[in-house]
Amino acid sequence: MAEEAILGYLEKNEQISDSGNFAAERGFDHNDVVNVIKSLHGFRYIDAQDIKRETWVLTGEGKKYAAEGSPEVQLFLAVPAEGSISKDELQKKLDPAVFKIGCSQAGKNKWVEMGKQVSRKVQNVEDKVKDLLLQVQNGHALSKEEISSLKARKLIVPQTWKGYSVRKGPNYAPKRKKAATDLTRENLQKGDWKELEFKEYNFNAKGQPAEGGHLHPLLKVRKQLKDIFLQMGFEEMPTNNFVESSFWNFDALFQPQQHPARDSHDTFFLEEPSTTRELPEDYVERVKRVHESGGYGSRGYGYEWKREEANKNLLRTHTTAVSSRMLKALAEKPFAPKKYFSIDRVFRNEAVDRTHLAEFHQIEGLVCDRGLTLGDLIGVLHDFFSRLGMSKLRFKPAYNPYTEPSMEIFSYHEGFGKWVEVGNSGMFRPEMLLPMGLPEDVHVIAWGLSLERPTMILYGIDNIRDLFGHKVDLGLIKRNPICRLGIS
Ligand code: PHE
Repeated sequence: MAEEAILGYLEKNEQISDSGNFAAERGFDHNDVVNVIKSLHGFRYIDAQDIKRETWVLTGEGKKYAAEGSPEVQLFLAVPAEGSISKDELQKKLDPAVFKIGCSQAGKNKWVEMGKQVSRKVQNVEDKVKDLLLQVQNGHALSKEEISSLKARKLIVPQTWKGYSVRKGPNYAPKRKKAATDLTRENLQKGDWKELEFKEYNFNAKGQPAEGGHLHPLLKVRKQLKDIFLQMGFEEMPTNNFVESSFWNFDALFQPQQHPARDSHDTFFLEEPSTTRELPEDYVERVKRVHESGGYGSRGYGYEWKREEANKNLLRTHTTAVSSRMLKALAEKPFAPKKYFSIDRVFRNEAVDRTHLAEFHQIEGLVCDRGLTLGDLIGVLHDFFSRLGMSKLRFKPAYNPYTEPSMEIFSYHEGFGKWVEVGNSGMFRPEMLLPMGLPEDVHVIAWGLSLERPTMILYGIDNIRDLFGHKVDLGLIKRNPICRLGIS
C-alpha cells in the first residue's frame, strides 16, 4: 500500500519532501513508510535522503497529566467552590506528588489562598498545561516559551525524529518488478528470461529449520546393526509380513502343537482371516510325519498332528518364521550357501511391564552351509558381538524346540559389572531342515536377540515404555544423540 503510494506519487511529482508528512496525510504508519523507502532505495527505484527534526515527546509524568489533568487543576478542583478546606484534609484527597506540585503551581497562579485552611481565589481555571501536553502528543508545534515551561517541569523531552525526502532513482518504475527467484521451463520456452530480473543469492540467509525427520533411537541402532550384517556379507530377509500362519511360525520349526507358546496366552491369533489359505502340501505332509513319527533319525513327538492347528493365523512371535520360509525356498534350488539377517517386529501376548512389551523388534542372523559346526556358531557370534562392542562372551546350554544344541549368549557388561544375557542361538535341528529338502550335510547356525535391549543400554533408558509405544516423550526422540555401537 505504502509502496504503491510512494511510486505513484513520484510518477507525477518531483519529490516527497518529508516522509513524516507524507505518512500522516495518508494515514500510514511512518515506520511502515520508512521500511518501504529503505527497500525501494536498496533496489534504486528511488533515492532517499535522510532528514532529521528535533521534536518533543511527553515524559511519563507528562503523559499522566495529559490524561488526568495538571496537578494545579486537580488541586483547584479539590478545593470547595465556597468556603474552605483544611490543608490536611486537602492532602488526603490527592496523590502526594500532585498535592505538592499542585500547591506550589496553584499558589503561583494565584488560584487559591494557601494557609492552614485553603480556599479558592477565582471561580474558574483553565488547564493550559494539559492542553499544551495534548498538542505535543498530537505532533503540533508549540512556541518557544511554551516548550521551555513544559521542559522546565520535565513534562517533555527532546527527541530526534528521522525521516526521508525521496526522489526517483535510476531504476524508477511506477510498479516494482518482482525479481524472479527461479528460472522456469516457461521462462525458457517464452524467452522472457531475457527481460527477467533475478533475485540475487543471499548467502547469509539462514535455511528453514528442519521440521521433522528425527530418527527414533531404535531406527538408529537398527541402521548400525544392518551395516554390521552387511559388512559381514549377510543378505536381508523380507520381513514385511506381520501375519503368519502357525505352520511357518511353529510347525515348520518342529515346535509341537501342544507347546505352551502356541497358547493364546502367549500368542496373538487372528480372528479375521483366522486361517491361512494355502500351504505347500507335500511339505506339510513331511512336517506332519516328522512331528508324529519322526524320520531322518528322529523319533518325532508321537502325537496326532492336526492340520487345523497349523492353519491358524497369528501375529508372528519371532522372525524365525521368516527364516523357515527362506530356508524352505533355498531347499527348492540347487544348494548354495547363504547368510541371512533380519531386524523387524514380532508380537507376543505378554503382560506389559518395564522390560516387556507386547511387540518388539527381533534381530536374527543365520548361516546356512555344508558342514557347519557349533564352533562355527561360536566364531560367528564372537565376530558379530565384538562389532557391537561386546567382546567378552559366554554361552550357556539352553533349549529351543528348533535348535540342538542351543545356547544362551551372555556378555560381560563393563558398566553393570556383570554378565548379562544378550541373545539366544543354536543349530537348527535336522527335523526342521531335512523335511524342507536341504541336503543332509547342510547345517544352519542361527541366533536372535532383541533390538530394544541394546538400544535401552546405549540410550540409558530403563523403562521400555519410554522407548516404544504411546508413552514415548517426543522431545526425547528429537534430542537423542547418535550412540555408536562398539564404543561403550
Ligand atoms: N527365535 C528365537 C527367539 O525368539 C531366537 C533364535 C533364533 C534362537 C535363531 C535360535 C536361533 O528367541
